[in-house]
Amino acid sequence: MKRVLSGIQPSGALHIGNYFGMMRQMIAYQDSADLFCFIANYHAMTSVEEGPALARGTVDAAVSFLSLGLDPDRATFWVQSDVPEVQELTWILSTLAPMGLLERCHSYKDKVAKGIAPNHALFAYPVLMAADILLFQSNAVPVGKDQKQHLEVTRDLAQKFNLTFGETFVVPEAEIDDELAVIPGTDGQKMSKSYGNTIDIFTDRKTLKKTVMSVVTDATPIEEPKNPDQCNLFALYRLFLTPPQVAELRARYLAPGLKYSDVKKELIEAIWNYFEPQRARREELLARPDDVLDILRAGAEKAREAASETLGEVRRKVGLAYW
Ligand code: ADP
Ligand code: TRP
Repeated sequence: MKRVLSGIQPSGALHIGNYFGMMRQMIAYQDSADLFCFIANYHAMTSVEEGPALARGTVDAAVSFLSLGLDPDRATFWVQSDVPEVQELTWILSTLAPMGLLERCHSYKDKVAKGIAPNHALFAYPVLMAADILLFQSNAVPVGKDQKQHLEVTRDLAQKFNLTFGETFVVPEAEIDDELAVIPGTDGQKMSKSYGNTIDIFTDRKTLKKTVMSVVTDATPIEEPKNPDQCNLFALYRLFLTPPQVAELRARYLAPGLKYSDVKKELIEAIWNYFEPQRARREELLARPDDVLDILRAGAEKAREAASETLGEVRRKVGLAYW
């Protein structure tokens, strides 16, 4: 069975870009693949500098993923730092990672351009991500488009290791759904925790209303037809619609008389209703924190078994097992 793996950073409230860009695909895989899913808290340390915030965010991300439908009986679900083997593999892969390859990574360059003081962890971020993926011999990695280059780095490192030390790692494929590749935020840029333009999945109704009403639209007068393909309100609303409903909305855009404020009101209802059952499940889980911790502990144990197997082989091949 195909092994599918992905992770998400606990660096802030999860938003609908995370859900449609990655989480939904992951949850759908639990019926057809050997699913590995984790909370990337080591990665989040590159942006979250307060211990209590990281700890709270980690539990919150885990509860959110479980509420959205991840079933720990049908997937291996853990917190990255509970399987520290990944750090040893990161070091080993670092010895094969050319500076130039990492210097070319857009994600690193963008963060530096945004004024984040670059440190070694930010630079080495893609190597840790490669270790996450290779340690578990993953075949496929569902991610949003922004992670595409990190998957290329991972493939490069896997191939280089295999060439140098003999066939060891599965060379993974990125799985990027082109339709959903970049979900826009309220301002039309990529929806991202770091741009402050998110629509959060588990927000209260008042905040949801305020956020959706702030979605930027153009100034086409009501009586003129509008262009759905350049409208970020359309791009967001379509996520919640069936194909015939999308066609109907498109027709409303193309006819005169559409009011963006009406569409926004409908979108608020659509988002609120879509996540209704998950909200209830989240309340339930928040009331049983010990059960959530038990789930994570059991998940880490399963993940650790798979990790030790790969790491044992790697240690032998590179000569760390010298006895
Ligand atoms: P953020 O940019 O908000 O910090 P993350 O980097 O934690 O989000 O992303 C977690 C997952 O969600 C990744 O697989 C990423 O590709 C996906 N993702 C994040 N934002 C979007 C978006 N706007 N559209 C599509 N996928 C996204
Ligand atoms: N870098 C990813 C992100 O920001 C999170 C991540 C860490 C990840 N390790 C991974 C995703 C391994 C897929 C596979 O979204």
